Amino acid sequence: MTKDIKRIAVFTSGGDAPGMNAALRAVVRTASFNDLHVYGIKGGYEGMVDGNLSRLEVRDVGNIIHRGGTILKTARSERFRTPEGRKSAYEALLAFDIDACIGIGGDGTFTGANIFSQEFPDIPLIGVPGTIDNDLYGTDYTIGFDTAVNTAIDAADKIRDTADSHNRLFFVEVMGRHSGFIALNTGIGSGAASVLIPEIETTLEGLVETLRKGAKRKKLFSLVIVAEGNRYGGAAEIAKRVQDSFDYYDTKVAIIGHLQRGGSPTAMDRVLASRLGFGAVEGLIKGEKNVMVGLVNNKIKYTPFEVAIGKTKIPDKDLIRMAEILAI
Ligand code: F6P
Repeated sequence: MTKDIKRIAVFTSGGDAPGMNAALRAVVRTASFNDLHVYGIKGGYEGMVDGNLSRLEVRDVGNIIHRGGTILKTARSERFRTPEGRKSAYEALLAFDIDACIGIGGDGTFTGANIFSQEFPDIPLIGVPGTIDNDLYGTDYTIGFDTAVNTAIDAADKIRDTADSHNRLFFVEVMGRHSGFIALNTGIGSGAASVLIPEIETTLEGLVETLRKGAKRKKLFSLVIVAEGNRYGGAAEIAKRVQDSFDYYDTKVAIIGHLQRGGSPTAMDRVLASRLGFGAVEGLIKGEKNVMVGLVNNKIKYTPFEVAIGKTKIPDKDLIRMAEILAI
């Protein structure tokens, strides 16, 4: 055990993700088991800058494993982007005698953590990947992704019913400003005719061709899953452009939106969050720092922040082809 670590601070940051509470519970309880004191920072980096810390005991994280959102609240902090803001955060941590930090969040969170750890190397930091986007290198899955996909598939199933009744073509938009993992898995799981994601170029001509072939095969309705961050824009824009050249179907648009960020975490997310929260504290104890804890091939792995945020995890292009073949 690194001798100096007695008090750790934990925070959630960036977009919330179902399972963040389960990860927090695991952090607090693993730390307590190892005789470490835990402080919760309210409101992510904003709370760190303001010194908004308070003691978290074992019972404070009771009855939260099944709750969506984050009891610590979250924020996107402009002040933490400035050297002055980070210095205030550092001073606040020193005022509470904090020896190490655990941040639960996504790439923005770890970008901030990486800078902070270079400026203030005496406070080791470990990141826990909590984002519905699943876009972090160094973990097969991020906390919240599975729940978000289940929510999106549930919504797509309902849209499928009405699409079938009316013989309609639906463009269903899911989250993913820069990433298509939610769209891809939703597309496969909901039997969509096509999936459009930011990482892989799909031409609108190609999409129309796929829909045309479907219509020739007497496909009476179709779903197309669109990740919000496409180069053509969101589902509404794409639907309009497709309809201009292919008006065989009555076309509708459904945007699932922030529904995907809430709700009770799935079993997979609860287990993942528990393992990663546990792994974060054990990592700190073993001397890991400035790394993200992840699950790779079902084993805990620590990846330096700069690799986790620097390398891009890309969805498998072949899966889009597979989704289209399975939907003929
Ligand atoms: O990071 C998850 C994510 O849901 C993205 O897919 C989405 O574009 C973004 O957050 C929206 O964030 P906010 O609602 O906080 O602006």
